[in-house]
Amino acid sequence: MKPTNPPKTYRVKSFGCQMNVYDGERMAELLGERGITPAPEGEEADLVVLNTCHIREKAAEKVYSDIGRLVKAGEERGQKPMIAVAGCVAQAEGEEIMARAPAVSMVVGPQAYHRLPEMLDKAVQGERATDTDMPAIAKFGALPARRKIGPAAFLTVQEGCDKFCTYCVVPYTRGAEISRPFSDLVGETQRLVEAGAREITLLGQNVNAWSGEDDKGRAVGLAGLIRALAAIDGLERLRYTTSHPADMDDALIAAHGEVAKLMPYLHLPVQSGNDRVLKAMNRSHTAESYLRLLERFRAARPDIALSGDFIVGFPGETEAEFEDTLKLVDEVRYAQAYSFKYSPRPGTPAATMEGQIAPEVMDERLQRLLASLNRDQLAFNQASIGRTCQVLVERKGKHAGQWLGKSPWLQSVWFEADAAIGDLVEVELAEAGPNSLRGIVRATVAA
Ligand code: SAH
Ligand code: SF4
Ligand code: F3S
Repeated sequence: MKPTNPPKTYRVKSFGCQMNVYDGERMAELLGERGITPAPEGEEADLVVLNTCHIREKAAEKVYSDIGRLVKAGEERGQKPMIAVAGCVAQAEGEEIMARAPAVSMVVGPQAYHRLPEMLDKAVQGERATDTDMPAIAKFGALPARRKIGPAAFLTVQEGCDKFCTYCVVPYTRGAEISRPFSDLVGETQRLVEAGAREITLLGQNVNAWSGEDDKGRAVGLAGLIRALAAIDGLERLRYTTSHPADMDDALIAAHGEVAKLMPYLHLPVQSGNDRVLKAMNRSHTAESYLRLLERFRAARPDIALSGDFIVGFPGETEAEFEDTLKLVDEVRYAQAYSFKYSPRPGTPAATMEGQIAPEVMDERLQRLLASLNRDQLAFNQASIGRTCQVLVERKGKHAGQWLGKSPWLQSVWFEADAAIGDLVEVELAEAGPNSLRGIVRATVAA
């Protein structure tokens, strides 16, 4: 590659989970430290970071088509952008990307992106660079301090996965489970609050596997971390995602009943309601043990909103086995959930299992599952009508005087009032749709 001028503007496009979004924010901060500014809306950037996801579908193909589009747009304006591929596709297929896409000058994995600035220096000199090392924790210490952020911020506390569900790439792209140290997290939370955060969502592929030592040297789990963070003045709300049933403990369940700042919401993926399928997936729970776990959360916090993830059409799934998933859904009555068609991922055990399900069967099952989940989501929202709750204002609505924010149960709520981003507003929930509710303001709690 030829040497080029250092880029002046950047754009980071994140395609994956919330941790991928967090990584995208941190990469943007690294570039900001270099004096590179975000490209204005609608304008091509000098440097584009494609922060990819490998979880489903033809993720890699999408990366190549994005690269193609960027190159074409660059030719049209007479200046090709510098392209970096980051995220989980970079981790899984870094070398292929370098070989197939000469327009890419940097490939950087999710555990190595703190080295992006050095790679950028090389790229400016015309050198292409790949970094998919997994030094894990090293990255966090090498990242710049948090600057101004919105009222609802993400904080990665745990990374990686040791569970090896047979369909999933995450253990390969993100590496083994690691927990960031307690004191680092307390410090980063304090800085996030100083930078304007009022709600923090603790992130991890298995966030409830987090463990550490508190400031007195005692071994603590996620509940201990949550209690410590809840003591920070100015922080009003805490959430965490995504949890695994096998890592749940009594302390976390109890925290839901005792820590006022911990929001009444639990995302606990189940994947299937059938025990044979769960076993083939290498999930370590049964449908029954999962349901009992949810019961304990409901006992600790009766209004808790429950959410989950589902996969339909796992290899060998029969019609009757799929119906067990529908039965589980009927029993739980989720407030909200995500469902996916099984997607064979190269290198995972399930990809070569017998009994791969035809796409049209998957489509049909997904539609039936979605019908049940949508029914329950609307019912949950309708049951909220008449409740008074706090909404954290996150952004302006479409119309003048309209604001949007989240209820404690993670519902989108809009209302009309004199407000500002970051306000906690007390509203009465007045009207419910499938995806949002209208609120009537009763009071602004604090600015
Ligand atoms: N660590 C989390 C999230 C993993 S990825 C957990 O275990 O819950 C998010 C979701 O993507 C998973 O819960 C699963 O429902 C879905 N998923 C993962 N691999 C998939 C695949 N190969 N095909 C379809 N869905 C998949
Ligand atoms: Fe993937 Fe299973 Fe790990 Fe979740 S627990 S990241 S689904 S392997
Ligand atoms: Fe995707 Fe990687 Fe997250 S594969 S879901 S970006 S951990």
